[in-house]
Amino acid sequence: MKTKNKQAHLEIAGRDEHALVNLFFILLKTAHLVEANNATYLTQSSKFYVIFRRLVDKYGKISIKIIDGRVFVRDRIIKFNSDSLVNATAILDNWRQIGLGGITFDDSLDNRQLDKFIYLIAKRSGTKADRESVIRRLSDIGIEGISLLGIEKKEEKKLLSEEKRKLIRRTARVTFFKSISVVQDAMVCAEQDKEIDITKARRVVNSMIDQIASDEAYMIQLTSIRDFDDHTYAHCANVCVYSLTMGVRLGFDKLRLSQLGMAALFHDIGKVRLPGDLIRKPEAYDENDWIQMQKHPELGTKTVLRNLKFDDYSARAARVAYEHHINDDFTGYPVLRTKMPTNLFSKIVSIADTFDALTSGRVYIKKPIPTDEVLRKMMYQMTVKFDAFLLKLFVNIIGIYPAGTLVLLSSEELALVTKNNRDNLSRPQIRIIGDRFGPKKEFIEIDLSQPEQAGIGIQKIIDPGKHNIDLKTILQMDS
Ligand SMILES: [Fe+2]
Ligand SMILES: [Fe+2]
Repeated sequence: MKTKNKQAHLEIAGRDEHALVNLFFILLKTAHLVEANNATYLTQSSKFYVIFRRLVDKYGKISIKIIDGRVFVRDRIIKFNSDSLVNATAILDNWRQIGLGGITFDDSLDNRQLDKFIYLIAKRSGTKADRESVIRRLSDIGIEGISLLGIEKKEEKKLLSEEKRKLIRRTARVTFFKSISVVQDAMVCAEQDKEIDITKARRVVNSMIDQIASDEAYMIQLTSIRDFDDHTYAHCANVCVYSLTMGVRLGFDKLRLSQLGMAALFHDIGKVRLPGDLIRKPEAYDENDWIQMQKHPELGTKTVLRNLKFDDYSARAARVAYEHHINDDFTGYPVLRTKMPTNLFSKIVSIADTFDALTSGRVYIKKPIPTDEVLRKMMYQMTVKFDAFLLKLFVNIIGIYPAGTLVLLSSEELALVTKNNRDNLSRPQIRIIGDRFGPKKEFIEIDLSQPEQAGIGIQKIIDPGKHNIDLKTILQMDS
């Protein structure tokens, strides 16, 4: 069983690969600040070269590749800690701007070539033409041991065999549905004042983190499934997925991600102290209902502290339970006597929570609002409620048409959005699943951001519920 799980994730790079990438990014940063004969630079450069030689002697040429904002060496993923991620994010953004998707170093690379190259690339920024100009410059100055790679979006699929990709997706589905049942069990326990099984919850959160690292877009697709008898538990799982995707992009380490995931999973636990009829009321809430509902953050904190015996985690979860409706402009609830800024975790969960509540139409607002409209609302009308940087990050992850959204194309075909394109949010990757005559026999995958697809556009978002479309089955047909 253990081996099976291991295969379901992208392979993590080893210690030497991590050191190589970290040193490479440190060299680029140092080259911005000092000359090539500086002692600090030379020490780091020698360290890099030692590790490079060790790897190249063992494996031949070594590539550092960037795929969808993540870094791979020898097709294995590099995990950054929060310190190194800040440096890496700035460099990767710059690479994206100049159209650089990776670098290959071969056996002929020597110290001198390396330093020339570092100084050449560290000073570059700007348009895509720059990659070509760096390539020309490389041959002009006689650097032969290095080649520059373009941005290849489809490369991730090539890295993974079809079988491995299917396994990742199967594991993602198991994890997602498991997280819903874990929340349900926990809420039932809390309602009966029984101790909650934290080990189970932590295990499912950790597995969710692995799945998001392996295939973030598929995990987001799963949050679009709406046909649950009781959406309360799926809402918590969805908020957990969205919060973790933000935590991953912010470079949180595994422990912080795990604490964020647990806090997100249990953010609404206070609702177990409210009447079930209120939670499941199909009609819009009246004033009295709202007075009741606004008690859930305070009740949540008490419930967390009483029922969750998970030390470091409980303080964070209690704070998120209390703060997730306060809002950055303090227009929410509970009303604070002293207006203290809310915690980073609460700010993240608040964005995730609002997005799911509005798009599902099952939490407070009893009618689902199309995702593009919700994002517009959040970006423009509700902007003071949220942290501006986190909101921008969330929109960049989710896109205008989030993975899992059903859309009608200008060709009158029906498609499922499979992945958001970070550089072109309005033209995502899609899978055409049907047309007006019914479902297609074979699904067609296209990337709307590619020039050859310029003739096709998205007309509007389709509500699967209204058109009797079973999203759950469609998502399972993928693998
Ligand atoms: Fe809530
Ligand atoms: Fe919520």
